[in-house]
Amino acid sequence: MHEISQVRMLEFPQRGDERGHLVIVEGMQDVPFEIKRIFYIYGSDADVVRGQHANRRTQFVLINVAGQSKVKVKDGKGNEAIFSLNRPHTGIYLPRMVWKDMYDFSPDSVLLVLASEHYDPAEYIRDYDVFVKEVN
Ligand code: TYD
Repeated sequence: MHEISQVRMLEFPQRGDERGHLVIVEGMQDVPFEIKRIFYIYGSDADVVRGQHANRRTQFVLINVAGQSKVKVKDGKGNEAIFSLNRPHTGIYLPRMVWKDMYDFSPDSVLLVLASEHYDPAEYIRDYDVFVKEVN
């Protein structure tokens, strides 16, 4: 399985008009899962690295609804890719079992995260060596 090849940018439908912007994200339509949880991250300093985990079950979509940040994904087999999140109508899809780091947060960054599962700390892998063992 090449989970990292499923990582991709998603573009969401926009229905803005003279009153302002409106971006739509529907489960199973604009993202490839039913959304069970959302959380958002803001106020992270530029030198902070968040994430640093993989998830055995949860799929995510990350959207910088304001500001910008970067996401680095690794498959634990030597492949990695870096994505810039800097547009409110685009997001990155992260399948199960990819290692992710979020960093380079702008001061105004608001990173919205959509998740396919409720929070369960047991499905997080926070040790990179354990992740590498599980994927190989
Ligand atoms: P953490 O996973 O470290 O955040 P990030 O993925 O941005 O690095 O989560 C920070 C804290 O918040 C940690 O104590 C777990 C808790 N948390 C929840 O209780 N529920 C959640 O849905 C999330 C994402 C985190």
